[in-house]
Amino acid sequence: DWNMPDYVKEAIGRIRSEVGSDEVILGLSGGVDSSVVAALLHRAIGTQLTCVFVDNGLLRLNEAEQVMKTFADNLGVKVIHVDAGAVFMKHLAGVTDPEQKRKIIGREFVEVFQSESAKLPNAKWLAQGTIYPDVIESASSKTKKAHTIKSHHNVGGLPDTLHLKLLEPLRELFKDEVRELGVALGLPHDMVYRHPFPGPGLGVRILGEVKPEFAELLRRADAIFIEELRASGWYEKTSQAFAVFLPVKAVGVMGDGRTYDYVVALRAVQTQDFMTAHWAELPYTLLGKVSNRIINEVRGINRVVYDICGKPPGTIEWE
Ligand code: XMP
Repeated sequence: DWNMPDYVKEAIGRIRSEVGSDEVILGLSGGVDSSVVAALLHRAIGTQLTCVFVDNGLLRLNEAEQVMKTFADNLGVKVIHVDAGAVFMKHLAGVTDPEQKRKIIGREFVEVFQSESAKLPNAKWLAQGTIYPDVIESASSKTKKAHTIKSHHNVGGLPDTLHLKLLEPLRELFKDEVRELGVALGLPHDMVYRHPFPGPGLGVRILGEVKPEFAELLRRADAIFIEELRASGWYEKTSQAFAVFLPVKAVGVMGDGRTYDYVVALRAVQTQDFMTAHWAELPYTLLGKVSNRIINEVRGINRVVYDICGKPPGTIEWE
């Protein structure tokens, strides 16, 4: 249990004496952990920090703009914005297997990150948003071989071929402490208290083959769902919520015409640890409103369903 203002001062002192005048690289994802590291390092070492933000084309609506606005425009952090959507899409074309998709997205991230860091030859450190539970988890998975249901990839999984020293300023913090630290550093509340978002992003929320046009429809449907959850006060009552794109077509009727369009599933869960989860009992009026808005506002989607599967037997994501 830390006193945050004291903790910030102490952490900054520690970072400064560790790093000296060296340059540091950080993979900024827009998630809570890497965001807090960016804000903390910026406070400690200013322009010695360069963030690399890789837009893989699988982010949420306006996410890249928001990250750039928060860090580059508002805080004045040096951020290299790599618009790599086309590269990721090219490598994902024709691939339908979920684990294969994860591997490709993870591999391409490393590729892009490595070629960007090659442009920063003076960097001596690689900063990462490793938090205390990650430290424990990786220690225990070295002793007992974890049974892998999904190969989770995160910004953390970079190879040592970068020849950089690791800087992990959140190593001793739990998630709620990381959030408190983020608030103390002046990050926006909504960013610090955002639901988790998987590394492969919409890549595992578009079932089967990932196509740019599917990502576009999903982004808009998902944004409507999240907007209505926030407006109704249900965002804070759920642990994770999102839309899933189903690449099947259903028949519908709109005005006096027949439609034949795609289906979106809504998923909202409540959980403590994400190992097990309950589907959230969202009010029918809320679900109805979200469904109407998606079908009216997102041309190309004509049916919305709600996922009432717990974990187990389902997983939280659909892939
Ligand atoms: P599942 O679907 O396994 O998800 O019940 C549990 C939690 O993990 C997240 N998740 C991922 N996070 N890379 C990530 O960084 C991944 O490949 C991945 N797959 C699932 C999921 O969003 C949920 O919070």
